[in-house]
Amino acid sequence: MESRLKDGFVAELKSRCSFTQIASKYLELTKKGRTYWARCPFHYEKTPSFSIDEFEGFYHCFGCGESGDIITFIKKVEGLSFMEAVEFLAKTVGMEVQYDSQADMATIAEKNRQKKQVLKALFDTKEFYKKQIYQKSAIKAQQYLKERRINRASLENFEIGYSPNFKLLVTELKALGYDDKVLLDAGVASEANGKLYDAIAERLVFPIYNAYGEVIGFSGRILDSELDLAKYKNTRQTIVFDKSRAIFGLKQVMDAKRNNHFNSLILAEGQIDVIMLHQYGFQNAVATQGTALTEQHAHIIKKVCDNVYVCYDGDSAGQKATYRALDILQNAGLNVKIITIPNGQDPDEFLKKNGQAGFQELIDKAEEVLDYKLRTLAQNSNMTSNQSRSQFLKNAIDLIKTLPTLAEADVYVNSIAKFANVANNVVRESLNNAMSSLNAKKDSPKELTQLAQNFSDAYQKADKIILASIIHKKPYIIDNVNLSFVNTNYQRLYSLLQSKKEQGQEFKISDLYDVFDFEQDKDIAELVNYKFSDNEDKDKQEYLNSLNVNRIRYLEMEIKDTETLYKNATDLSKRTELLNRIGSLSKELATLKSSFIN
Ligand code: CTP
Ligand code: MN
Repeated sequence: MESRLKDGFVAELKSRCSFTQIASKYLELTKKGRTYWARCPFHYEKTPSFSIDEFEGFYHCFGCGESGDIITFIKKVEGLSFMEAVEFLAKTVGMEVQYDSQADMATIAEKNRQKKQVLKALFDTKEFYKKQIYQKSAIKAQQYLKERRINRASLENFEIGYSPNFKLLVTELKALGYDDKVLLDAGVASEANGKLYDAIAERLVFPIYNAYGEVIGFSGRILDSELDLAKYKNTRQTIVFDKSRAIFGLKQVMDAKRNNHFNSLILAEGQIDVIMLHQYGFQNAVATQGTALTEQHAHIIKKVCDNVYVCYDGDSAGQKATYRALDILQNAGLNVKIITIPNGQDPDEFLKKNGQAGFQELIDKAEEVLDYKLRTLAQNSNMTSNQSRSQFLKNAIDLIKTLPTLAEADVYVNSIAKFANVANNVVRESLNNAMSSLNAKKDSPKELTQLAQNFSDAYQKADKIILASIIHKKPYIIDNVNLSFVNTNYQRLYSLLQSKKEQGQEFKISDLYDVFDFEQDKDIAELVNYKFSDNEDKDKQEYLNSLNVNRIRYLEMEIKDTETLYKNATDLSKRTELLNRIGSLSKELATLKSSFIN
């Protein structure tokens, strides 16, 4: 991906971006020392633990562990791909994106031109459908709206339209000057036997917008349920329409948000649910096209709000989809609650029977994720069978044992006991066991003796201190010491540092983001976020000790290797040489070790 950009462009772009200036559009920053602080945009929090180091060009959240450079930041907050984020930033700082070659540049320019035309065609298509719904030919559609009790305000707000037949759209758009290619590129027309026809002909049409207020596609609902056709037909994948990103109702939510502040979204399954929710006053409702929620959807939602109510249909398919959606939404840093609609109804049906107040009650009763999971787990278990009851208990404990503290997990003991109809103590005891064995695993792997563990911990800690001190440019760093690392990422980092030095370039922490993937390379992320003490003398002493520990490991390994060589060597002079080497290595080792004891 990156290879499409000209060499060095990303570095140049990053150097021209003021991280804090750009981030201040999204965050309220306060400066303490050289670091800027804000409340984290990636997880909910009351006090700031999100930090930006302008000079080093990276951010880190001490709450959720997210970190990255300005490009990662924009990718996340704007819900963009890498290339889109680069383009976004270039635009922000007034740079032209430089691609690999002239040929590529022409391709990109062509693509932009195509995109513009496609968006224009989509807009005009929407206008066409909108006009059609008021025509005599749309009598069936108007009838249908009446039946579903979609009122005039909703019709206008959602710009609901109608496609009367297979031909008219194509005829009208061609009259406006669009050629076949654009109509096909936009996905508004399909081709059969060399002829174009309306891709969602003879349906009620719902335009779908992106977050920038552009029409990107349509969803068409069939009016005649007798017909053996899919109930909904959506625009196919195009350069602007991607089902895994599209969110219906986003435009209306953004419009409503200008007058009305809300801090949550309601996520439903379908268009009609969203329209009805808005009609009944819940102007924060959106939907994906069905229940296939993706990470991209979640990131777009996170841009709008921190809190989301999942409100899928009350049937079993809706429940299954809810379970899946919860993890995706929580992983995106959203606070999630679940609205359960009784009797397998969907929001549309429920609203019509129970009105705004009825639905507001459901919102007020919305469950936290764990409560929801435990309740549905219990409902799907047959508690009269001993086997499935103990399975329930096991699954329930699995759900809560990873909570940070016993106290937090204990909150759920009562309800689990009640569901399974067992005494509280039964649950509490298995919870205790589960949590302590989990902690034991964290604290001391059984296979290793405590001693060996202590040693390898000491080595790791020393490596960490050394590298953290180097990349954070501590004043007490000693140049020209021989270091060795066993962890591959540490080795990569060390050679990066050395090659920078050889080239006479200054190392910056943001350089790391070009080499490492911070989601995966947790050991490197840890170095970036390393917390030094407030006492520089103490840090310095730790660093110096760590150099010795690093050297000790090197010596021990080197001695072992040399011993192996010695055992296998047959040449006398070679054997003498190796023996001498072992002698001097061992002497150095002994001296170093005794310096520790004293
Ligand atoms: N959907 C789709 N293609 C289908 C069926 C459904 O894209 N063949 C999407 C549509 O976005 C639809 C949503 O999934 O709005 C929910 O589908 P479903 O629950 O089946 O429809 P209803 O909500 O019952 O729709 P309606 O109220 O229009 O009957
Ligand atoms: Mn439905």
